Amino acid sequence: MLKITNLHANVGDTQILKGLSLEVNAGEIHAIMGPNGAGKSTLSYVLGGRPGYEVTEGSVEFMGQDLLDLEPHERAATGLFLGFQYPVEIPGVSNVQFLREALNAQRASRGEEALSGGEFLKLAREKAALLKLDMEMLKRQVNVGFSGGEKKRSEMVQMGILDPKFAVLDETDSGLDIDALRVVGDGINAIMRAPAKGVLLITHYQRLLDYVKPDKVHVLAKGRIVTSGGPELAMQLESEGYEAVVA
Ligand SMILES: Nc1ncnc2c1ncn2[C@@H]1O[C@H](COP(=O)(O)OP(=O)(O)OP(=O)(O)O)[C@@H](O)[C@H]1O
Ligand SMILES: [Mg+2]
Repeated sequence: MLKITNLHANVGDTQILKGLSLEVNAGEIHAIMGPNGAGKSTLSYVLGGRPGYEVTEGSVEFMGQDLLDLEPHERAATGLFLGFQYPVEIPGVSNVQFLREALNAQRASRGEEALSGGEFLKLAREKAALLKLDMEMLKRQVNVGFSGGEKKRSEMVQMGILDPKFAVLDETDSGLDIDALRVVGDGINAIMRAPAKGVLLITHYQRLLDYVKPDKVHVLAKGRIVTSGGPELAMQLESEGYEAVVA
């Protein structure tokens, strides 16, 4: 479903990704772990097509298409969703407005009809309930004044509403309290655990993986995948640290 081959990417003059290869099949959830500064967020930005991130070598195939050839909004319309490590605030725009615009733009590009205000609110209420997020939060400006955990949870509501084919979730578990971690984990399973979907879950801690069981775990260090394994690899990293594994 997502096939990354020998990806090299620069930010400015600095090479961050140095030959990264990774393949996620439909129906799979893969976790990426790795030291700070390894290039995990860079990978998610490159997949999303963020300006300033230049691919110098390698390829990314997404659902049979050359992903790198698509504009960021086309990538989203194809069904790619990015959850950010640091969700952005959008003052002056409510979550409801933002999400309805985003959803209807994606529907239009797929040749589907726009949802009416009523239909959209019904969908938004359903997904907010799934993530146990108060509907009032969705009426507020996007992420403005949200606590760290509220941002992450509302991002998962966004994901539920947009219903992507593939999600790259960058430290979605950071800042979540113990109960919220379970709610978000259950939400990821409910929204994304499906035969035709896939997830790349970037995380520093194995505890999220207790809820969202990964099919594979990869270690990203110094711009490439240095080792891969099953869920037991996350356990090993938690007890032994990266040094032994990365060396
Ligand atoms: N605009 C930039 N200019 C220079 N270096 C950058 C820039 N953006 C990122 N980098 C560097 O790229 C490296 C990889 O950063 P990245 O954010 O991808 O790491 P990460 O694996 O997500 O780390 P963390 O676990 O801390 O989130 C870091 O050393 C970072 O300083
Ligand atoms: Mg990061």
